[in-house]
Amino acid sequence: MATNFPDGFLWGASTAAYQIEGAVREDGRGPSIWDIFCHLPGKIANGDTADVACDHYHRWPQDAALMRELGLGAYRFSTAWPRILPEGRGEMNLKGLEFYDRLVDGILEAGVEPWVCLYHWDLPQALEYRGGWRNRDTAHWYAEYAQLTARRLGDRVKHWATFNEPNCACVKGYGDGEHAPGVRGRASALAAIHVMNLAHGLGIGAMRAERADLLLGNIYNFHPYEPADDREEDEIACQMLDALWNRSFPDPQMLGHYPEPFAAEMVEPLVQPGDFEIIKQKLDYFAFNHYTRSRVRRDPAHPFEVGTLPPPSGALVTDMGWEIAPDAFRAVMIEAKERYSGDLPIYILENGAAFPDQVEADGHIRDERRIGYLRGYLGAVQDAIAAGVPVRGYFVWSLLDNFEWALGFSKRFGLVHVDYETQERRPKDSFQFYAELANGAALDRD
Ligand code: GCO
Repeated sequence: MATNFPDGFLWGASTAAYQIEGAVREDGRGPSIWDIFCHLPGKIANGDTADVACDHYHRWPQDAALMRELGLGAYRFSTAWPRILPEGRGEMNLKGLEFYDRLVDGILEAGVEPWVCLYHWDLPQALEYRGGWRNRDTAHWYAEYAQLTARRLGDRVKHWATFNEPNCACVKGYGDGEHAPGVRGRASALAAIHVMNLAHGLGIGAMRAERADLLLGNIYNFHPYEPADDREEDEIACQMLDALWNRSFPDPQMLGHYPEPFAAEMVEPLVQPGDFEIIKQKLDYFAFNHYTRSRVRRDPAHPFEVGTLPPPSGALVTDMGWEIAPDAFRAVMIEAKERYSGDLPIYILENGAAFPDQVEADGHIRDERRIGYLRGYLGAVQDAIAAGVPVRGYFVWSLLDNFEWALGFSKRFGLVHVDYETQERRPKDSFQFYAELANGAALDRD
């Protein structure tokens, strides 16, 4: 049966530099905040580090061949700022840019369109020593990095994203401290939110000045929250977490203001006159990631007094403990259009699931649960499209099993299994499932 997605629907896959590249000390790359964080005792599950990860820096031709085999329309990856500017600013590292040059050419040769995200959480450590995302200057250094990278790759890469989930980088990196650089605090998280918003605006301006033909956006994350029960303190916590996680970037970037629960804290000297004009730039597409939903209750120990509960007992969950709830995804797409994006094309730039996949004796990886997850969530995409939401493409997270941040290598999200001892790549059954869709098969919804 022929595809039941709209004509031209884009089938993609996403990855991130730090999660796959490895080669952290090669060819002049400088350290990022994640290199430092990974080597602090107790920060990463099992003491894992991403020093080697999937060794994609050396094995990318094999990975590009997998993209071709999958029949991908597009592949989204991120460039590592510290590979291009080891000190974060100043002298550029030609070898770093040359790596991305080769990668872009290789992806194009595989018949796949490269999409670049400029920031997937790997700030050069040299800038963290200067205050990192709490320092307004970082927004200007980011814009220089964006312009330089767009100058080099913009002849071949048309779709660019300024940030991947800046909310997560701020809330986890500078709020609860679970991610690099491991700072815990309220003022630090709010400062990072504002400086990253500024960086987005300045970066868009710098890239537009460089080339007029680029298509620019940002990658948000939408995670629906509801209060754990009807106690007022849980409702207040829920509004705060919703503002921090779901609104802290699209509200200022699309609507020109911060959301109510923390707007009163976004004042001078952090927020200066004219900042919202910088932040609110016209975008060419609207993109976000989505995985699950949660219930919220007040946690007095958290800097924002927010916490989440595990899914209700009996709920279906992934290996992350995340509830499988495709209806929540449909609702999020409808709300994104109503609240923010209007007629802009929408791209889902990450969605997928971790499961404890096993290589069986015959060499197969029968990841039926991942196929079931994808089937459900792609069904939600069809429902949203039927409801009038202009979803133009879907990118699965992820092409390969990879380094899942503080959880190290303990969670597998890939369509392709990676043996971290041998670096052998082995397509899972979900790879086949996804390849059929990308090659025009209909989604069977039962
Ligand atoms: C994210 C990410 C990925 C994660 C994925 C699964 O959180 O933005 O882009 O880096 O690996 O979401 O948690």
